Amino acid sequence: MKKILIQFDTDSHPSVFDRVVAVDAGVDELFSYGGIHPDNVTSLVHGAIFTRGPADLKNTSIFVGGSNVVEGEKLLAKVRKAFFGPMQVSVMMDSNGCNTTAAAAVAVAGRHMTLKGAEATVLGATGPVGFRAAQLLAREGAHVSVVSRTLDRASAAVDSILEKYPSAKLRAVAADTSAEAESCCRSQQLVIAAGAAGVCFLQEGALSRLSNLKLAIDLNAVPPVGIADISTTAKAVDHSGTICYGALGVGGLKMKVHRLALQNLFEANDRVLDVESIYDLALQLVARG
Ligand SMILES: NC(=O)c1ccc[n+]([C@@H]2O[C@H](COP(=O)([O-])OP(=O)(O)OC[C@H]3O[C@@H](n4cnc5c(N)ncnc54)[C@H](OP(=O)(O)O)[C@@H]3O)[C@@H](O)[C@H]2O)c1
Repeated sequence: MKKILIQFDTDSHPSVFDRVVAVDAGVDELFSYGGIHPDNVTSLVHGAIFTRGPADLKNTSIFVGGSNVVEGEKLLAKVRKAFFGPMQVSVMMDSNGCNTTAAAAVAVAGRHMTLKGAEATVLGATGPVGFRAAQLLAREGAHVSVVSRTLDRASAAVDSILEKYPSAKLRAVAADTSAEAESCCRSQQLVIAAGAAGVCFLQEGALSRLSNLKLAIDLNAVPPVGIADISTTAKAVDHSGTICYGALGVGGLKMKVHRLALQNLFEANDRVLDVESIYDLALQLVARG
């Protein structure tokens, strides 16, 4: 039976990026729909779950994407609400690459250092990627500084992570300038910069001043990059004793994670691939080497 991936995109044009990855992941047929929102998705989900018998439904899966992560989350919830009993298909959400990127970044970090007990800072931790990276670091037992330009937003992110991991060691920190961002990273072993595209947090020379830093990961590929000392293509490059990754350096694993997650959807009809389960897949890939 053919593997059909149904792409629900909250943008008017379904993402070309997500379509290419679907083809590369080996789906047989890709049905792409744009302009999808919670109010118009249910009948489309019914089309997915009522056409094949329960035993064959693992050959149909849904991918939720689009540039708006909040809308993607609402859409995922509505898709799941349309399922009942055995009448369901596996579903993955990766709006704007938020889950695969955060999962790849934290899996890369775990390749180089023990995360449990590590002092870790996430800059730009209130965005979809940074928030998820902070959440995964908390899950791994790191002591996470959650950084935003405003303390309110940092505290809200911390509270949200604590709901999931009540014993997590988290600290909300406000940093509105490069000097403050650098100050947040002092005494830290890991920094993940997950600021908006084109936002530089750590100016040139910062890494040589941050002598405790073992690993620095910058996810912003749009100049100026988030950590000026790291080139976008850096992949396990040493800079002043710090192992560095740029956005494209993490991108290879992110792409593999995305493809593996799509393949994983077709193993059963009840998978829900969110950041946690996508991270588990990223760990599998890292373990394979
Ligand atoms: N490598 C990849 O494959 C890949 C895939 C997806 C995304 N990305 C990159 O990952 C990064 C994070 O993505 P995202 O969607 O989570 O980002 P985002 O939501 O656009 O921004 C993340 C955070 O950056 C902070 N920020 C925004 N403008 C700022 C400014 N002018 N100065 C300082 N801080 C600012 C905001 O935090 P506060 O308002 O709380 O300060 C915001 O919550 C982006 O650079 C994106 O391009 C990479």
